[in-house]
Amino acid sequence: MSGQPTPIIRMRDAGYYSANTIGARHVIDSCIPLVQRAVAEIPLTGGAFRVADYGAADGGTSLGLQRALVDAVRARDAGRQVAITYTDLPHNDFSTLFRQVQAGLGDLPGVFAFASGTSFYSRILPDASLHLGFSGTAMHWLSRLPGQLADAVHAVLGTAAERVPFAAQAAADWQTILLHRAAELAPGGRLVLANFCQDEAGYYLGYTGRKNMHATFAKHWAGLRDAGVITEAEVRAANFPQFYKTVAEFRAPFDDPASAVSRAGLVLEHCETRITPCPYAARFAQERDPAAFAAAYVPTLRSWSENVFLGALDASHPAGQRQAIVDRFYASYEAEVAAEPDGHAMDYVHCFMVMAKQG
Ligand SMILES: C[S@@+](CC[C@H](N)C(=O)[O-])C[C@H]1O[C@@H](n2cnc3c(N)ncnc32)[C@H](O)[C@@H]1O
Repeated sequence: MSGQPTPIIRMRDAGYYSANTIGARHVIDSCIPLVQRAVAEIPLTGGAFRVADYGAADGGTSLGLQRALVDAVRARDAGRQVAITYTDLPHNDFSTLFRQVQAGLGDLPGVFAFASGTSFYSRILPDASLHLGFSGTAMHWLSRLPGQLADAVHAVLGTAAERVPFAAQAAADWQTILLHRAAELAPGGRLVLANFCQDEAGYYLGYTGRKNMHATFAKHWAGLRDAGVITEAEVRAANFPQFYKTVAEFRAPFDDPASAVSRAGLVLEHCETRITPCPYAARFAQERDPAAFAAAYVPTLRSWSENVFLGALDASHPAGQRQAIVDRFYASYEAEVAAEPDGHAMDYVHCFMVMAKQG
């Protein structure tokens, strides 16, 4: 086990997250058919149709899916009320979430929004109370940092030995998530999950055969050490508490009828991997404006990665200086993209799963 503390997981706030993550919204929108099919199957029991969005960040990216979900429920029962619980970690920017949800769903009668600042590694909802649970691009964040990476910033580029504790933590965390959700789901309820994965071709977020985002992060972070800005210890302290599971790793608890998850009554109904192309690289392919591409692209990386780099900096730097170092880091990434734009892309690589609670 590492002696290094787990960095605080936090998206950039004040709406920066959803304003700079068009791709995450595309991923969520692509789940709408899965959600519509799930809603058609779920028994409409017990008053309001109850929904949870696990790891919702500022709520902006899932507004389209939530509206489609309400429509799907109302197509079955025009008067059915819908209660949506948005969940994320306690220090998430829930103020922005409430504003985005009021702006995006406030016109829908009979839709009630709530929030819970509780980790999905804990129980969040009462027993058998949930009809449909959704989560987009959240469960690659582990419950803790289980080891250290010498040269890489992400386990996906760690050595085989470095990856072992990450894979073990990811398997244990996956079981924890599923067992809590199995307890929360009502009989016949469904979970629709879109999670980052390492797909059958070996691809993952930011690497689909061309430039590798995680290698580029590591290169520019080490570049700050070479420039005398940060120490070797700070280089090594930047480790994402994340893991991209393979399809086999996602399926494992379902493929074993004796597993705790199978015994809890969760059954896998659908599992596929899909790549959602980076919208910023797609626009660059049309417009061919390298500086505009770099200026739009790097903020989408920054929206979810900044806190890990800030957290790696020693507390002896005054806060303003830490921010300036991280600004310099993203500026050097942006300068590389502007100078050599071809091949940079944060394509999203997901495993899409639907599971049902038996009963
Ligand atoms: C990349 S964002 C995805 C946000 C949104 N679901 C989307 O797809 O656009 C990942 C979110 O997961 C949240 N998260 C990470 N670990 C979590 C945990 N243990 N419990 C709840 N939320 C968590 C983060 O705080 C962040 O808001």
